[in-house]
Amino acid sequence: MSAVAIITGATGGLGQEFVRGALSDGIDEIWAVARNEKRLGELRERFGDKIRPVRCDLSRADDLAELFALIEAEKPDIRLLINNAGIGKMGASAEFPDDVIVNEVDINCKAVCLLCKHAIPFMKPGARILNISSASSFQPVPYINLYAASKAFVRSYTRALNVELKARGIICTAVCPGWIDTDMLEKEHNGKPVKFPGLVSPERVAAQALRDSAKGRDMSVCTLFVKYEHLLSKIWPHKWLMRIWLNGIKDYV
Ligand SMILES: NC(=O)c1ccc[n+]([C@@H]2O[C@H](COP(=O)([O-])OP(=O)(O)OC[C@H]3O[C@@H](n4cnc5c(N)ncnc54)[C@H](OP(=O)(O)O)[C@@H]3O)[C@@H](O)[C@H]2O)c1
Repeated sequence: MSAVAIITGATGGLGQEFVRGALSDGIDEIWAVARNEKRLGELRERFGDKIRPVRCDLSRADDLAELFALIEAEKPDIRLLINNAGIGKMGASAEFPDDVIVNEVDINCKAVCLLCKHAIPFMKPGARILNISSASSFQPVPYINLYAASKAFVRSYTRALNVELKARGIICTAVCPGWIDTDMLEKEHNGKPVKFPGLVSPERVAAQALRDSAKGRDMSVCTLFVKYEHLLSKIWPHKWLMRIWLNGIKDYV
Protein backbone atom coordinates (compact mmCIF):
# COMPACT_ATOMS: atom_id res chain seq x y z
CA MET A 1 0.00 0.00 0.00
CA SER A 2 1.33 3.47 -0.91
CA ALA A 3 2.61 5.71 1.89
CA VAL A 4 0.58 8.92 1.66
CA ALA A 5 1.26 12.42 2.99
CA ILE A 6 -1.48 15.04 3.14
CA ILE A 7 -0.02 18.55 3.09
CA THR A 8 -2.24 21.61 3.19
CA GLY A 9 -0.96 24.88 1.76
CA ALA A 10 1.44 22.70 -0.24
CA THR A 11 1.92 25.37 -2.92
CA GLY A 12 3.12 28.05 -0.47
CA GLY A 13 6.64 28.92 0.61
CA LEU A 14 6.84 26.53 3.57
CA GLY A 15 4.45 23.99 2.04
CA GLN A 16 6.75 23.36 -0.95
CA GLU A 17 9.63 22.62 1.42
CA PHE A 18 7.45 20.13 3.30
CA VAL A 19 6.66 18.50 -0.06
CA ARG A 20 10.38 18.21 -0.82
CA GLY A 21 11.09 16.83 2.67
CA ALA A 22 8.23 14.30 2.54
CA LEU A 23 9.42 12.98 -0.83
CA SER A 24 12.92 12.42 0.49
CA ASP A 25 11.36 10.70 3.59
CA GLY A 26 10.06 7.88 1.34
CA ILE A 27 6.47 9.06 0.84
CA ASP A 28 4.92 7.56 -2.34
CA GLU A 29 2.08 10.00 -2.86
CA ILE A 30 1.42 13.53 -1.65
CA TRP A 31 -2.08 14.89 -1.51
CA ALA A 32 -1.28 18.55 -2.09
CA VAL A 33 -4.16 20.64 -0.76
CA ALA A 34 -4.70 24.29 -1.79
CA ARG A 35 -7.17 26.45 -3.72
CA ASN A 36 -5.25 27.70 -6.76
CA GLU A 37 -5.32 24.97 -9.43
CA LYS A 38 -2.66 26.62 -11.59
CA ARG A 39 -0.19 26.62 -8.71
CA LEU A 40 -1.14 23.02 -7.88
CA GLY A 41 -0.36 22.09 -11.50
CA GLU A 42 2.98 23.88 -11.27
CA LEU A 43 3.75 21.96 -8.06
CA ARG A 44 3.19 18.68 -9.91
CA GLU A 45 5.41 19.85 -12.78
CA ARG A 46 8.10 20.75 -10.28
CA PHE A 47 7.99 17.62 -8.10
CA GLY A 48 6.56 15.00 -10.49
CA ASP A 49 3.71 12.51 -10.54
CA LYS A 50 3.90 11.63 -6.84
CA ILE A 51 2.00 14.90 -6.36
CA ARG A 52 -1.77 14.52 -6.36
CA PRO A 53 -3.36 17.97 -6.52
CA VAL A 54 -6.45 18.24 -4.29
CA ARG A 55 -8.24 21.53 -4.83
CA CYS A 56 -9.90 22.50 -1.56
CA ASP A 57 -10.76 25.78 0.12
CA LEU A 58 -10.26 24.93 3.79
CA SER A 59 -12.61 27.75 4.82
CA ARG A 60 -15.56 26.11 3.01
CA ALA A 61 -17.56 23.37 4.73
CA ASP A 62 -18.55 21.72 1.42
CA ASP A 63 -14.92 21.59 0.21
CA LEU A 64 -13.86 20.07 3.53
CA ALA A 65 -16.66 17.49 3.31
CA GLU A 66 -15.37 16.48 -0.16
CA LEU A 67 -11.85 16.07 1.18
CA PHE A 68 -13.07 13.89 4.07
CA ALA A 69 -15.21 11.83 1.66
CA LEU A 70 -12.11 11.27 -0.51
CA ILE A 71 -10.16 10.03 2.53
CA GLU A 72 -13.05 7.71 3.52
CA ALA A 73 -13.37 6.37 -0.03
CA GLU A 74 -9.66 5.70 -0.65
CA LYS A 75 -8.65 4.66 2.87
CA PRO A 76 -5.05 5.80 2.30
CA ASP A 77 -2.16 4.72 4.53
CA ILE A 78 -1.51 8.24 5.89
CA ARG A 79 2.05 8.39 7.20
CA LEU A 80 2.24 12.19 7.40
CA LEU A 81 -0.38 14.87 7.87
CA ILE A 82 0.96 18.41 7.69
CA ASN A 83 -1.60 21.09 8.50
CA ASN A 84 0.45 23.91 7.04
CA ALA A 85 -2.08 26.26 5.37
CA GLY A 86 -2.58 29.42 7.37
CA ILE A 87 -3.46 33.07 6.92
CA GLY A 88 -2.91 36.20 9.00
CA LYS A 89 -3.94 39.81 8.74
CA MET A 90 -2.22 42.68 10.51
CA GLY A 91 -4.33 45.44 12.08
CA ALA A 92 -6.74 46.24 14.88
CA SER A 93 -8.64 42.97 15.08
CA ALA A 94 -11.89 44.43 16.43
CA GLU A 95 -12.13 46.47 13.21
CA PHE A 96 -11.83 43.50 10.84
CA PRO A 97 -14.93 42.64 8.79
CA ASP A 98 -16.77 39.58 10.15
CA ASP A 99 -15.78 37.36 7.21
CA VAL A 100 -12.06 38.09 7.76
CA ILE A 101 -12.34 37.02 11.42
CA VAL A 102 -14.34 33.89 10.57
CA ASN A 103 -11.97 32.89 7.72
CA GLU A 104 -8.86 33.24 9.84
CA VAL A 105 -10.30 31.12 12.66
CA ASP A 106 -11.77 28.56 10.23
CA ILE A 107 -8.52 28.04 8.28
CA ASN A 108 -6.03 28.33 11.15
CA CYS A 109 -8.00 26.37 13.78
CA LYS A 110 -11.18 24.62 12.66
CA ALA A 111 -9.78 22.99 9.51
CA VAL A 112 -6.72 21.76 11.47
CA CYS A 113 -8.83 19.92 14.08
CA LEU A 114 -11.26 18.50 11.51
CA LEU A 115 -8.50 17.23 9.25
CA CYS A 116 -6.75 15.58 12.21
CA LYS A 117 -10.02 13.94 13.22
CA HIS A 118 -10.71 12.58 9.73
CA ALA A 119 -7.11 11.48 9.02
CA ILE A 120 -6.30 9.74 12.34
CA PRO A 121 -8.46 6.63 11.63
CA PHE A 122 -6.18 6.02 8.61
CA MET A 123 -2.90 6.43 10.50
CA LYS A 124 -0.90 3.50 11.90
CA PRO A 125 1.77 3.48 14.64
CA GLY A 126 4.74 5.54 13.44
CA ALA A 127 2.56 8.01 11.54
CA ARG A 128 3.12 11.70 12.26
CA ILE A 129 1.09 14.90 12.38
CA LEU A 130 2.74 18.30 12.07
CA ASN A 131 0.54 21.32 12.77
CA ILE A 132 2.07 24.66 11.91
CA SER A 133 1.82 27.09 14.78
CA SER A 134 4.18 30.06 15.17
CA ALA A 135 6.48 31.86 17.60
CA SER A 136 3.56 34.31 17.88
CA SER A 137 1.85 31.58 19.95
CA PHE A 138 4.27 32.20 22.84
CA GLN A 139 2.46 35.33 24.13
CA PRO A 140 -0.37 37.66 23.07
CA VAL A 141 0.62 39.84 20.08
CA PRO A 142 -1.35 43.08 19.51
CA TYR A 143 -2.14 43.92 15.86
CA ILE A 144 -1.65 40.31 14.82
CA ASN A 145 -3.86 39.41 17.74
CA LEU A 146 -6.22 37.03 15.99
CA TYR A 147 -3.38 35.27 14.15
CA ALA A 148 -1.30 34.85 17.33
CA ALA A 149 -4.32 33.62 19.28
CA SER A 150 -5.13 31.10 16.53
CA LYS A 151 -1.53 29.83 16.61
CA ALA A 152 -1.66 29.52 20.43
CA PHE A 153 -4.75 27.37 19.90
CA VAL A 154 -2.87 25.18 17.40
CA ARG A 155 0.12 24.75 19.72
CA SER A 156 -2.00 23.82 22.72
CA TYR A 157 -4.28 21.52 20.69
CA THR A 158 -1.35 19.71 19.07
CA ARG A 159 0.63 19.07 22.25
CA ALA A 160 -2.44 17.68 24.01
CA LEU A 161 -3.33 15.59 20.95
CA ASN A 162 0.18 14.15 21.07
CA VAL A 163 -0.55 12.83 24.58
CA GLU A 164 -3.97 11.52 23.55
CA LEU A 165 -2.45 9.61 20.60
CA LYS A 166 0.62 8.25 22.43
CA ALA A 167 -0.94 4.81 22.95
CA ARG A 168 -1.61 4.58 19.20
CA GLY A 169 2.02 5.42 18.37
CA ILE A 170 1.14 8.61 16.46
CA ILE A 171 3.40 11.64 17.03
CA CYS A 172 1.98 15.19 16.90
CA THR A 173 4.34 18.15 16.64
CA ALA A 174 3.48 21.84 16.90
CA VAL A 175 5.89 23.71 14.63
CA CYS A 176 6.66 27.19 16.01
CA PRO A 177 8.80 29.20 13.58
CA GLY A 178 9.64 32.89 13.76
CA TRP A 179 9.57 34.98 10.57
CA ILE A 180 9.99 32.84 7.44
CA ASP A 181 10.99 34.28 4.08
CA THR A 182 7.81 33.48 2.10
CA ASP A 183 5.14 35.41 0.19
CA MET A 184 3.06 35.56 3.38
CA LEU A 185 5.18 38.47 4.60
CA GLU A 186 4.57 41.97 3.31
CA LYS A 187 8.10 42.99 2.41
CA GLU A 188 7.29 46.71 2.03
CA HIS A 189 5.04 49.12 3.91
CA ASN A 190 4.38 52.65 2.59
CA GLY A 191 7.39 52.23 0.27
CA LYS A 192 9.69 51.31 3.16
CA PRO A 193 11.24 47.84 3.54
CA VAL A 194 9.86 45.98 6.57
CA LYS A 195 12.38 44.45 8.99
CA PHE A 196 11.85 40.87 10.13
CA PRO A 197 14.30 40.05 12.94
CA GLY A 198 15.61 36.48 12.80
CA LEU A 199 14.17 35.88 9.29
CA VAL A 200 14.87 32.29 8.24
CA SER A 201 14.46 30.26 5.06
CA PRO A 202 11.48 27.90 4.64
CA GLU A 203 13.94 25.06 3.81
CA ARG A 204 15.47 25.33 7.25
CA VAL A 205 12.13 25.41 9.10
CA ALA A 206 10.71 22.41 7.22
CA ALA A 207 13.87 20.32 7.62
CA GLN A 208 14.04 21.02 11.37
CA ALA A 209 10.31 20.34 11.83
CA LEU A 210 10.51 16.97 10.06
CA ARG A 211 13.60 16.02 12.11
CA ASP A 212 11.91 17.02 15.40
CA SER A 213 8.74 15.09 14.57
CA ALA A 214 10.80 12.00 13.62
CA LYS A 215 12.41 12.26 17.09
CA GLY A 216 8.94 12.27 18.68
CA ARG A 217 9.04 15.89 19.89
CA ASP A 218 5.74 17.65 20.54
CA MET A 219 7.21 21.04 19.58
CA SER A 220 9.67 22.20 16.93
CA VAL A 221 11.44 25.50 17.50
CA CYS A 222 13.90 26.36 14.76
CA THR A 223 16.90 28.70 15.36
CA LEU A 224 18.53 30.00 18.53
CA PHE A 225 16.76 33.33 18.05
CA VAL A 226 13.30 31.74 18.39
CA LYS A 227 14.45 29.48 21.24
CA TYR A 228 15.51 32.66 23.05
CA GLU A 229 12.09 34.27 22.36
CA HIS A 230 10.45 31.13 23.72
CA LEU A 231 12.53 31.28 26.90
CA LEU A 232 11.77 35.00 27.40
CA SER A 233 8.05 34.32 27.01
CA LYS A 234 8.29 31.94 29.96
CA ILE A 235 10.23 34.20 32.32
CA TRP A 236 9.32 37.79 31.40
CA PRO A 237 5.90 39.36 32.03
CA HIS A 238 3.96 39.28 28.79
CA LYS A 239 3.13 42.98 29.12
CA TRP A 240 6.88 43.75 28.76
CA LEU A 241 7.10 41.60 25.64
CA MET A 242 4.01 43.28 24.17
CA ARG A 243 5.57 46.69 24.83
CA ILE A 244 8.77 45.69 23.02
CA TRP A 245 6.70 44.37 20.10
CA LEU A 246 4.62 47.58 19.91
CA ASN A 247 7.82 49.61 19.79
CA GLY A 248 9.12 47.43 16.92
CA ILE A 249 5.96 47.86 14.81
CA LYS A 250 5.24 51.56 15.51
CA ASP A 251 6.11 52.51 11.90
CA TYR A 252 3.64 50.00 10.45
CA VAL A 253 0.37 50.41 12.41
N1 LIG B 1 5.87 33.23 6.79
C1 LIG B 1 6.05 33.37 8.10
O1 LIG B 1 6.75 34.31 8.58
C2 LIG B 1 5.43 32.40 9.07
C3 LIG B 1 5.88 32.40 10.40
C4 LIG B 1 5.36 31.48 11.31
C5 LIG B 1 4.37 30.58 10.89
N2 LIG B 1 3.95 30.61 9.59
C6 LIG B 1 2.90 29.64 9.20
O2 LIG B 1 3.45 28.78 8.22
C7 LIG B 1 2.39 28.27 7.40
C8 LIG B 1 2.75 28.42 5.93
O3 LIG B 1 2.90 29.80 5.65
P1 LIG B 1 3.73 30.37 4.41
O4 LIG B 1 4.59 31.44 4.95
O5 LIG B 1 4.31 29.27 3.62
O6 LIG B 1 2.53 31.09 3.61
P2 LIG B 1 2.23 31.22 2.05
O7 LIG B 1 3.48 31.17 1.25
O8 LIG B 1 1.33 32.41 1.95
O9 LIG B 1 1.37 29.90 1.73
C9 LIG B 1 0.07 29.71 2.21
C10 LIG B 1 -0.49 28.42 1.63
O10 LIG B 1 -1.79 28.20 2.20
C11 LIG B 1 -2.73 28.01 1.14
N3 LIG B 1 -4.03 28.53 1.55
C12 LIG B 1 -4.33 29.80 1.94
N4 LIG B 1 -5.64 29.91 2.18
C13 LIG B 1 -6.18 28.68 1.94
C14 LIG B 1 -7.50 28.15 1.98
N5 LIG B 1 -8.56 28.92 2.30
N6 LIG B 1 -7.70 26.85 1.68
C15 LIG B 1 -6.65 26.07 1.31
N7 LIG B 1 -5.38 26.51 1.25
C16 LIG B 1 -5.16 27.79 1.55
C17 LIG B 1 -2.15 28.76 -0.06
O11 LIG B 1 -2.60 28.23 -1.30
P3 LIG B 1 -3.86 28.84 -2.10
O12 LIG B 1 -3.76 30.34 -1.99
O13 LIG B 1 -3.75 28.31 -3.50
O14 LIG B 1 -5.06 28.28 -1.43
C18 LIG B 1 -0.65 28.46 0.12
O15 LIG B 1 -0.37 27.18 -0.41
C19 LIG B 1 1.12 29.05 7.83
O16 LIG B 1 0.36 28.27 8.73
C20 LIG B 1 1.69 30.26 8.55
O17 LIG B 1 0.79 30.80 9.50
C21 LIG B 1 4.47 31.48 8.68
